Amino acid sequence: MALADTAKVALADTFAFYLKTHNFHWNIEGPNFAQYHDFLNELYNEVWQAVDAIAEHIRTLDAYAPGSFSRYKELTTIEDELKIPTSINMLKKLETDNQKVIASLTEAYQDAEKEKKVGFSNFLQDRIDIHEKHGWMLRALTK
Ligand SMILES: [Fe+2]
Repeated sequence: MALADTAKVALADTFAFYLKTHNFHWNIEGPNFAQYHDFLNELYNEVWQAVDAIAEHIRTLDAYAPGSFSRYKELTTIEDELKIPTSINMLKKLETDNQKVIASLTEAYQDAEKEKKVGFSNFLQDRIDIHEKHGWMLRALTK
């Protein structure tokens, strides 16, 4: 696929991951509430910053950046969450979703390399690295 197309999937996945993390920040419960609530606050904020940066990289390619629920629903590989899982299951679901974000960022990265978009490629490498770190923390919290 072309970089503009794989980047749109990476944007939709990043947005879906952001939204689910914010949802869980609001609705998590249990004896570790304060710790989880704060952890999720930092996580959704970090991912939120990336949404704008990915969208603007897509515009740099002269493609339009998707920004509606219906387009994100079509594009994302992340399952929507309609229930309120237990705290541990929330963190496990985010760990699974984080791997999906890494997968779509990696596909976009490979296309950026193919199309010799060095700046976008560097940006995507950094996003992958940050999500690897998010994965470590999510796994550490659920052991
Ligand atoms: Fe909050």
